[in-house]
Parts: sequence; C-alpha cells; structure tokens
Amino acid sequence: MNEMFKKARIGIDPYLDWIQAEGVPVVNKYAIYLFDVETKIWPRYGMNGAACHLDGRGDFASMFLFELPPGASSTPQRHLYEEVVYVLEGVGSTQIELADGSKRSFEWGPRSLFSIPINTKYRHFNGSGQNRALFVATTDMPLIMNVFRNEQFIFDTNFEFSERLGKQEYFSGGGDLVMVRPGNNLWETNFVPDLEKIELTKWDERGEGSSIILFVLADGTMHAHISEMPTGTYKKAHRHGAGAHVMFVSGTGYSLAWWDHSKDFERLDWKHGMVFPPVEGQWHQHFNTSDKPARYLATSLGSIRYPLTARKRRSTGTTSDAKIAVATSAKEGGDQIEYEDQDPRIHPMFVEEMRKNGAVAKMDKYFADDGTLKLVAARE
Ligand SMILES: [Fe+2]
Repeated sequence: MNEMFKKARIGIDPYLDWIQAEGVPVVNKYAIYLFDVETKIWPRYGMNGAACHLDGRGDFASMFLFELPPGASSTPQRHLYEEVVYVLEGVGSTQIELADGSKRSFEWGPRSLFSIPINTKYRHFNGSGQNRALFVATTDMPLIMNVFRNEQFIFDTNFEFSERLGKQEYFSGGGDLVMVRPGNNLWETNFVPDLEKIELTKWDERGEGSSIILFVLADGTMHAHISEMPTGTYKKAHRHGAGAHVMFVSGTGYSLAWWDHSKDFERLDWKHGMVFPPVEGQWHQHFNTSDKPARYLATSLGSIRYPLTARKRRSTGTTSDAKIAVATSAKEGGDQIEYEDQDPRIHPMFVEEMRKNGAVAKMDKYFADDGTLKLVAARE
C-alpha cells in the first residue's frame, strides 16, 4: 500500500490484511479451476487451504478451498461468519456440538452442499483412509472482518444462535419445500446430500426447460441455488450484482460474459470444479453442450429470505412490485435478454458447439433449422 496511506491509516481492508497474515496461498483470478489450486497447511483450521478471490466476488464474499488429507480431521471451530460448503471430491462427515453438549453429525460426499449454523462448534472428518476430501466454502468473512476487525471476537465468542439450528432432520438430508412462485421456490435445510439428485422446480422465464431451487441453509444470509439446463438448451442472458460464485456441478458447457460496450464475448468453458462469479452488472449466459442435463450451483451473500441488499431484492423480486429482475426483459426494465433480442452470433455459436460434440440443439421453439428466429414475427 501507498506509504502515505499507511501512515495516515486510511484505505485499510482488514479482511485482506487478515488473510495475508494467515499465510495461506491466495489466488486472484476471473475464473478458477479448483482442482488445480495449490493448498498449504492452514493452522487455524487444521486442514490444507487456500483463499480463492475471484474478480467478481464483490465486497462481501470470498471463497476458502479446504483439503482434508486421508484419515484427517479439522480442528474444532466456531465463527461469526457464515459459510456455504460445497464438496468437490471425497467423503466424510461433519459433527456439530451444541451448547448443551449434544452432538449431531451428517455424512457428505461429492456434490454435497451444507451450512454450519452461525457460530456453532463444528469439526470435519475425512471418511477415507486412502483419499483426500476437497471442499470449497463461500463465506461472508470479508464483510464480518471488515466490520468487526477482531479475530478473537470472530473465532472465540461463546454464544449459541439456537434459532439458527433448524429442525433435527435439516442435518440428515430432510427439509421443507416452500412453493412461492417460479424463481422463488425454496428448499429449507442445513444439508443437501447430492446436488445432482435434488428435485428442482420449473422456471420457464429463464430459458427453455429451465428449472431451479433456491436454498435457505441454516436460516442464513448466505445464499445458494441450483439451476438445470436440459440437454441441447441454454439459458437466457442476464445480469445481477457481484459475488454470485457459479460452480458447475454436472454436465459440461460454456458461459459467455460481456458488457454493453463489448465487441466480443469472454468465453469460459466449464465442468465440475470450475468457479466464476460474473462481475457486477456484467451480462452472462450459460450453455449446456453435454448429452445430459447440466446443473450449476451459485453461492452469494443475500438469500431469498434475507436479501440484505437492494440489488439482491431487485434480482429476487422481493421488492414492493415483486418483479424478478433477472427474469424480466431489459426492454421492460429488467435484467434479462430474451432469446429474440440476443446477439445474432450467440445461437449459431451454440449450434456449432453442439455439432462438434455430436449433439443436437433443442431450441426449435425459438429458432428454425437455419438458425433464424421463429419468434420475431410473433412478438412484433
Ligand atoms: Fe447469473
């Protein structure tokens, strides 16, 4: 930092100072393939770890990657930041301990998703003696550290938020489905055993065959949702606030990202293990080029229950006019580009990708065989 700033003690980012002092690798990138990240022992957690700072992470969230060696367990932990954990590889269990001394545990594997209720004591165990376990936690630690600026307070406060624990079955894969409306339907739980298997609900406004479920995990302010695109399809382009860490769970494909003034698209090819958060306000669009449905997970701060920011309220439709901006055409003041309004290069690019994969685009409702739009006449 600039010496003058240092002397005057201005422009400080306590979170970045803290992560640097932790002595673990910090990766700064637009997109990260998590299996390639080098980890190092992170004494605080008793696991190997690294911080993944993605360009689009925004002000409030960051990502910690953790590796538990075969047969290892993490050090017991509690903290005042929230986290949403996604398991990339391996099997294991997590035990939580409540103020009355009682314990609960659940077993996870690849594609599990869970949250530890805020400030609850927990410990992770690798269930294999041969293989490592690798998982990634999206956290609001930047927000919490930048507000409180005191490591001892964050990691060593003896207080149980008993109202965050939820029902007993929330730790064993059970939950409550709350049907609100397309795009707002939620599954309340603390633990999702397998994101590839959980049932989703239709959200046609976001794209052909699109489906989704939003999660409320440990009654948290951290958000997660999972979306699916059927084979041969792609989502409509949209934009929203920073910090939506998009992780690809099943299937393969690519995403395009651009700005209003961009001449070309940034393209990102993805598969399980890849993460990228679109930058604040950046248009982006996801394409499934595999021969099976593709699912992706997005984690961020600001949940459907507790949106936290005005931008998140706008995206989720939890505003007074209840309009879901990410599913409303930009022509109507929303943050979505309808198929008929998209850049004419986008559909042919997808058809060509599908052809290379020996697969076929299933967008007949919108596009003729020659790639021209069917909907234009109907809409005009
Ligand atoms: Fe998005």
